[in-house]
Amino acid sequence: MDSRPRIAVLGGTGKEGSGLALRWARAGFPVAIGSRDPERARHAAERLRAIVPLAELIGLANADAAAWGEVVVIAVPYEGHALILQALRDILARKLIIDVVVPLDPGNPRRYAPPPDGSATAEAQRILGPETPVVGAFHNISHFHLHDLDEIPECDVLVVGDHREAKARAIALAEAIGFTAYDAGPLANAPIIEGLTAVLIGLNIRYKGKGAGIRITGIRRKNG
Ligand SMILES: NC(=O)c1ccc[n+]([C@@H]2O[C@H](COP(=O)([O-])OP(=O)(O)OC[C@H]3O[C@@H](n4cnc5c(N)ncnc54)[C@H](OP(=O)(O)O)[C@@H]3O)[C@@H](O)[C@H]2O)c1
Repeated sequence: MDSRPRIAVLGGTGKEGSGLALRWARAGFPVAIGSRDPERARHAAERLRAIVPLAELIGLANADAAAWGEVVVIAVPYEGHALILQALRDILARKLIIDVVVPLDPGNPRRYAPPPDGSATAEAQRILGPETPVVGAFHNISHFHLHDLDEIPECDVLVVGDHREAKARAIALAEAIGFTAYDAGPLANAPIIEGLTAVLIGLNIRYKGKGAGIRITGIRRKNG
């Protein structure tokens, strides 16, 4: 894979997906915004190109974006998670899948509502099968930190999954857009990382913030 792989963001018209798309596009990655409506995707891509005019940014229907991408980010609300993965299973085969989806209680976003698989990341891995490497990442990064391109993020990215090489690639992609990212262990840890998002949302509500995040301390990085 190229050091700047094509990245497709399904649900890229939304808050989190468009923020990730913007950051990767600014960093020089070719990016496709995916949507259920290709026209909406094209408009979203245009809006982002107005911010980063030199970026290679296109808008496509989700299926076309998934086919185009070498890396595919799943950034839809949990209600659409299983459906989109089932529909695109063959197209997504053997690509690197980065799942940012957090299943929250629709009546109370401060409460994590894990699916029967234990986590959204595990659900994705089951639906796509073991040949397709799925990692969970960016769950704990509020979209507010993605859209302000002047901001150097003060929060870290935790990457979970059972595919070691996939995690290394996801970590490199997170670091390419300014984050410090860590291998947070196997897929079995995904409920912890996803569930932490409910805690952060609760903190935002309680303390009237927008961008609560986490920072790992006590680890000496090889370049830090
Ligand atoms: N917002 C954050 O700060 C944040 C932080 C960490 C993780 N996340 C996670 O990231 C995911 C996206 O969050 P968001 O805040 O960006 O959500 P959002 O803005 O509400 O939605 C993202 C996009 O998903 C598409 N979508 C909506 N309902 C769908 C469905 N039923 N099936 C398929 N696609 C659907 C829509 O695009 P089209 O209508 O154009 O198809 C929408 O623009 C969520 O799972 C969330 O838990 C969000």
